[in-house]
Amino acid sequence: MSFYSCAHSLPSCKIFFSHDPIKIIQAKGQYMYDETGQRYLDCINNVAHVGHCHPDVVKAGAQQMEQLNTNTRFLHDNLVLYAQKLQATLPDKLSVCYFVNSGSEANDLALRLARQYSGHKDIITLENAYHGHISSLIDISPYKFHQLSDAELNPFVHVAPSPDVYRGKYRADHFDPATAYADEVKDIIEKVHKKGGKIAAFIAESLQSCGGQVIPPAGYFQHVAEHVHKAGGLFIADEVQVGFGRVGTNFWAFQLQGEDFVPDIVTMGKPIGNGHPMSCVVTTKEVAEAFMSSGMEYFNTFGGNPVSCAIGLAVLDVIVKEDLQGNALRVGQHLTDLLEKQKEKHPLIGDIRGCGLFVGVELVRDRLTLTPATAEAQEVIYKLKEQHILLSADGPHRNVLKFKPPLCFTTEDAELVVEKIDLILTGILKYASVFLARAPSKTGVSSMWPAGQNRPTRGSSCSSCFVKR
Ligand SMILES: Cc1ncc(COP(=O)(O)O)c(C=O)c1O
Repeated sequence: MSFYSCAHSLPSCKIFFSHDPIKIIQAKGQYMYDETGQRYLDCINNVAHVGHCHPDVVKAGAQQMEQLNTNTRFLHDNLVLYAQKLQATLPDKLSVCYFVNSGSEANDLALRLARQYSGHKDIITLENAYHGHISSLIDISPYKFHQLSDAELNPFVHVAPSPDVYRGKYRADHFDPATAYADEVKDIIEKVHKKGGKIAAFIAESLQSCGGQVIPPAGYFQHVAEHVHKAGGLFIADEVQVGFGRVGTNFWAFQLQGEDFVPDIVTMGKPIGNGHPMSCVVTTKEVAEAFMSSGMEYFNTFGGNPVSCAIGLAVLDVIVKEDLQGNALRVGQHLTDLLEKQKEKHPLIGDIRGCGLFVGVELVRDRLTLTPATAEAQEVIYKLKEQHILLSADGPHRNVLKFKPPLCFTTEDAELVVEKIDLILTGILKYASVFLARAPSKTGVSSMWPAGQNRPTRGSSCSSCFVKR
């Protein structure tokens, strides 16, 4: 029995909806099915990018498995074809690919590349960032490491404020939040220099996902890159969650910043193989040459194998064939429009932000104080699950509803989930007004939840909601 064995073999692994977990045995497109045949609408799985078990992807993998799978010590066309196709989606400067097996492996290699190229050691990361589960990445993931003691923190890692113009240090009413947030990075660099350190890299997701669906102000990356380059470091864009056409207007989320911005290293994962474990690091010739000059051979048993590359090729083909980037743009816009209407109706909705099918809805109890409506967000997730819709809530306060469905999500799916959210938020409001009528309180809606339900521990995997890890 899978849940039972999970409890024995993966004690730190949290199960979604642990009080009433779901056993999924099949999936297709944007739907997943449990063992009774009950269908769930998947609004969160950005790994099943072109749709769960897409037949073209399955076929490509199976056919290549029938023929050959081996490692990159032998020549194989699939690797070359894949590298060429991937590079065609990227700015010319990003011309060298390293194939690995997970987002964590990609980010770890990116750090090695940056440190080898620069000869420096210090890394700047963002508040609430998550970049992977291996030691080097826990070090640069405040989303996780805030649970560690100061003694356990890596002294070479420095945290810059999240460029969140809704809840962050500089907000939408600031005259130039992009420069203000980038200046914070500049200040960190100066402090590091004063202590004798040197910056190897700045790393950020092109749009922060676990950090609460944060969309950095346009121009921020350009300014940061300027400061980091001046210090001899590199800019690493983590596209593990947000790449491959999800944002609709562009294939890569870093391109939202403008054509004048190109990272030095881009890391990819999750959607790249539509569920097959593959990932990639793409960088410049100069960085690759510096890495080679160390003299250390790079070998990865599974990275770039013919099966993975066949699957990756099929994913890229399906994105084009089914115009999934266009679909992300159209359906994402429709979803955002519908949610904006809900914002007029429901005071709990503080902010709606997103690009394409990467959308966040931040719930707050007060639009002025921005008190996070954490328990309400969990209530929405739970109630949606009862309606067989899977959504998650994340961000430092776990109050941001996260939409990042497979890109085959339809306008009807968007309408269904928003209709259900409307009903749930109406129910929450009714409950709150009845409760408040009985027990009026200065703190307003927040008093509707028992003490202790307001804020789950930050960074803990949330066992009671549908969280992607
Ligand atoms: C932004 C980001 N980078 C890297 C990773 C690590 O990827 P993986 O779990 O494939 O190692 C994740 C995983 O959630 C992620 O969200």
